[in-house]
Amino acid sequence: MSTAKILILPGDGLGPEVSAEAEKVLVALRDHHGFDAEWSRALIGGAAYDATGVPLPDATLAAARASDAVLLAAVGGPQYDTIPRELRPERGLLGIRAALGLYANLRPALLFPELAAASSLKPELVADLDILIVRELTGGIYFGKRESKVETDYRVGEHVVASARVSRDTEAYSDFEIARIAKTGFEAARLRNKRLCSVDKANVLESSQLWREVVLEVARDYPDVELSHLYVDNAAMQLVRAPKQFDVIVTSNLFGDILSDIAAQLTGSIGMLPSASLNERGQGMYEPIHGSAPDIAGKNLANPLAMILSLAMLLRYSLKRGDLAEKVETAVKRVLGSGLRTGDIARTGEARVGTREMGGAVVAALKG
Ligand code: IPM
Ligand code: MG
Repeated sequence: MSTAKILILPGDGLGPEVSAEAEKVLVALRDHHGFDAEWSRALIGGAAYDATGVPLPDATLAAARASDAVLLAAVGGPQYDTIPRELRPERGLLGIRAALGLYANLRPALLFPELAAASSLKPELVADLDILIVRELTGGIYFGKRESKVETDYRVGEHVVASARVSRDTEAYSDFEIARIAKTGFEAARLRNKRLCSVDKANVLESSQLWREVVLEVARDYPDVELSHLYVDNAAMQLVRAPKQFDVIVTSNLFGDILSDIAAQLTGSIGMLPSASLNERGQGMYEPIHGSAPDIAGKNLANPLAMILSLAMLLRYSLKRGDLAEKVETAVKRVLGSGLRTGDIARTGEARVGTREMGGAVVAALKG
């Protein structure tokens, strides 16, 4: 590959701080490991709204389309709670996912042995936990038809409300969308422990019945992968009861949003987990699972490791530089092994370092 082009979208809250640490890692890869890359920054989310009036400026989208991969930190903040929904920071994120066609969201929940004590579950339930959630990211209720209006004679059981304010969101999936994400799930399972669990609510939802049917059709091409199905309520319970029963989980946009937060907590810290969102051309956007955490933003308290590990995923999946990804991951493990902890992963009484110190330590490990 010629010079790799990376676009960094720092976004809001702790975004700029963790982005700065990822940039330090890029510099170290360039200066010490011959990584041929250039990178630039653009605005998204609340930062873009403040500067330009919209959460996803055309210039950002154009820059994203022109890059090999995008590294996004986080969007959102309480100061945007009162602006119209279509201008909210989250719209920038949903907009770029849709515009780039990033339908396949890979969210690993991996427990670093050094952090086993940080999980809220008993250590024996989570030791060596390694789950991959494959979340459909450009369909379902996130992008379905919405409406809000006043309806007359609206029925609620035995009540008839003369005038009711009613809002609707629509969960809709086509067989095309289900088949393509199911394939992603099966392919991922094939590269791991060959077990795929499809999560739906087929006992209630029409769209989930189609989901199950199509997943079963796709399964015919993957006889080597063991397929199971769970209803989403049961899946949520199983994730906290016995998480190690899972290998790969494939599910819809909304269910994946919820289950991936549960899975993240199993590993002890949402500050540690990266994710990848890929389109059909293998172009991808990489982001930590955590949000913008306005409460700790700007205080040098955020854990930059999810962002740095997202960069590792970017190197592996979009730039096909698994060698460099491994270097970054090994550096992170060494830093954790040496006992460095940001507040989110520190136990009571353990010394804590800041965002910059953690990022700096990863860079030092990369140079060494
Ligand atoms: C996520 C986030 C987003 C989502 C929000 C910020 C719109 O929760 O990436 O999981 O719901 O997809
Ligand atoms: Mg979420």
